[in-house]
Amino acid sequence: MAKAVADGAKSVQGIEVELDYHTLPETLVDFNAILIGIPTYHHDMAIDMKKLFEEAATKNINLKGKIGATFGSYGWSGEAPRLILEIMKNKFEMQVTEPPLLAKYTPDQTTIEKCKELGKKIAEKLMHTA
Ligand SMILES: Cc1cc2nc3c(=O)[nH]c(=O)nc-3n(C[C@H](O)[C@H](O)[C@H](O)COP(=O)(O)O)c2cc1C
Repeated sequence: MAKAVADGAKSVQGIEVELDYHTLPETLVDFNAILIGIPTYHHDMAIDMKKLFEEAATKNINLKGKIGATFGSYGWSGEAPRLILEIMKNKFEMQVTEPPLLAKYTPDQTTIEKCKELGKKIAEKLMHTA
């Protein structure tokens, strides 16, 4: 899903995309848009993601106004992308795209296309606000 989102964003001329599995809170400030892919386990987000936002809050990392979006695979409840979107919106005052893009278990081709569209839509939004 993340690769498809990145491909969609890269299809827009002038957009630079970095795809990382892990990041540091300080690194987040380098980006105009932050798109996070996360699966749901035990009705929650992964512990390293929780830690990332906890540390970002503790260190007063300023993400205000940055564009945010989330996506992820799930089995039956799919809270994690919603929880992160709420944190982006309410704690960090980011401009978020709602709702998150969810795939039930393995994403099918239609969902992969939606991932590409999400990346492209955000990249186009960035180009218009630049
Ligand atoms: C131990 C375990 C706990 C899970 N808990 C949840 C859950 O609370 N809610 C949910 O929607 N899916 C849950 N799932 C399903 C996963 O979100 C689903 O398999 C998803 O496709 C995993 O994505 P990944 O392969 O990218 O890790 C759970 C799966 C496992 C193995």
